[in-house]
Amino acid sequence: MRECRQCALADGRGRVVVYRGPPHPWLLFVGEAPGRSEDEEGIPFVGRAGRILEEAATSSGLRATEWGVTNVIMCRPPKNQFDRHAALACRPWLGAKVASLAPTVLVTLGANALESFLPEKLPVSQAAGVPHAWEGRVLFPMLHPAATLHSKAFAQRWKKDWQRLGELLPSWRGPKDLEGEQTPISPPGSEGRGAVRALPPGRILPPAP
Ligand code: URA
Repeated sequence: MRECRQCALADGRGRVVVYRGPPHPWLLFVGEAPGRSEDEEGIPFVGRAGRILEEAATSSGLRATEWGVTNVIMCRPPKNQFDRHAALACRPWLGAKVASLAPTVLVTLGANALESFLPEKLPVSQAAGVPHAWEGRVLFPMLHPAATLHSKAFAQRWKKDWQRLGELLPSWRGPKDLEGEQTPISPPGSEGRGAVRALPPGRILPPAP
């Protein structure tokens, strides 16, 4: 990935930003694209948005061994503007990452991350806080943590959706997850895995390059 030149972002990037977390998290956050701090360090969510995410995760009882974080775009877009062409170019990498980490639950952060997984144009305001079925996994959309810095209403919604996620976590977490080990994936909607709203399957990520 460090040598990828599939899109124009390769010219302006400092580092390719791939993933932070354990080898087999059962919950994977998927953000939009690296910002300045991430581009410098080569690690996702190390800036302000990352601190908001960490705080929410810790408060809801998630342990560092249970979750990881990546982005739909792995190189920093100029002016931090989401670049759909780059998202498309990055998709095989994201597909490979999701397949190798094999999380039970995917939590998309923000509208652009959500759009990369669900084919229908579902507004994030409508989709957030509701579990969806996606490719044999649970997809739980949320607002982007940075949104909470811009509006009180978004901050309240973030809190509310985290409460819901906190309620659902125990039903998705397998018996071994607390030890940081991987649990076999049960199809979403099966007994004991929380209520998953049935939706048409999301866009299929292409196979690994
Ligand atoms: N940092 C990231 O890595 N991704 C985002 O979406 C925002 C900040």
